[in-house]
Amino acid sequence: MAGPGELPPQAQIMQGIFGFMVTKCMSAVAAHRIPDALKDGPLYYTDLAEKTGTDQRALHRMMRMLSGIGIFSEPEPGKYALTPASELLRTDVPGSMHGMAVMITSDSHWQPWGRMEEVLKTGASGPQHAFGTDLFTWFQHDDNKDQWEMFNVAMSSFSSGIAHAVAESIDFSGFKHIVDVGGGHGYFLKTLLEKAPEAKGTLFDLPQVVEGASDLGDRIQREGGDFFKSVPGGGDCYTLKHIIHDWSDEQCVTILKNIGEVMDPNGKVMVAELVMPEGNQPHPAKFMDVNMLAMTEGGCERTEAEYAELFSKAGLKLNGIHPTPSPVSVVEAIKG
Ligand SMILES: C[S@@+](CC[C@H](N)C(=O)[O-])C[C@H]1O[C@@H](n2cnc3c(N)ncnc32)[C@H](O)[C@@H]1O
Repeated sequence: MAGPGELPPQAQIMQGIFGFMVTKCMSAVAAHRIPDALKDGPLYYTDLAEKTGTDQRALHRMMRMLSGIGIFSEPEPGKYALTPASELLRTDVPGSMHGMAVMITSDSHWQPWGRMEEVLKTGASGPQHAFGTDLFTWFQHDDNKDQWEMFNVAMSSFSSGIAHAVAESIDFSGFKHIVDVGGGHGYFLKTLLEKAPEAKGTLFDLPQVVEGASDLGDRIQREGGDFFKSVPGGGDCYTLKHIIHDWSDEQCVTILKNIGEVMDPNGKVMVAELVMPEGNQPHPAKFMDVNMLAMTEGGCERTEAEYAELFSKAGLKLNGIHPTPSPVSVVEAIKG
């Protein structure tokens, strides 16, 4: 999306109005594994449709649109190829965003986002308007298990690039016990443990989620529970990646206090999030913040000053912010 002043006003508005088409078409081609089918080289849309079991004309029209904006390329009319962007929509590459691209327009997100007018009017979340409840309660209904699985896969896919960026930017080698709070299927924790050969890990999440984690290796134990009640004790490093932004200040203080109560007195809390800049520059945190507005009950992206305040309410102290090569930073806290 171009920033202010980079396009004539009409083009800028058109780009904004039609932006959802890009998102939905990227989801659709990812769901049908079109990028995987192009990994060995460009294909005519007829062959590509046959290989992926899709409709020839529909595929041609979507690919033509996506190629016009660089998601794919069209080296000859009707022949399509991957670009560096769509390489990341393959399922089998490091840092793949495939799961995220598919999930973001599945029912769990598309229906709540479809209620944005009501979110704007009331401030209540999209899931409240679309489903009558919050997202994580909705996920736990039997009918929505496939949506929950899709969400967990998306989180792991979204995690992959960020996990490596965090692991490279901070020295985890001195820690003995890393507890990943709300750790999903464990991708982040596994990546951190590669950099902390002396450490064991605890993967903590809702019971149904940790049960779904596989290939954790022998250094990670899993523990199911509710972080609003308690978290596993004894860690000297508590990581929370994309957890704090899901919740209101009050709820975050509860989670952080629960950690403060059981962590090693010299331990560290490492919050991996997009940190909201103060100024008017374009920043992914501003998009993620609106996603939190749409999808959560009071979640938001926070500035450095807001993190400092949150930690102090929980008896902790902001101890620095570590930028990483990804848009995510790690906000570090110690006991106050
Ligand atoms: C946005 S996801 C982040 C997952 C993971 N940290 C990552 O970045 O890939 C939020 C996670 O919080 C977990 N969660 C939600 N409510 C929870 C609760 N009350 N107790 C423990 N985990 C919870 C969800 O199951 C989900 O795995």
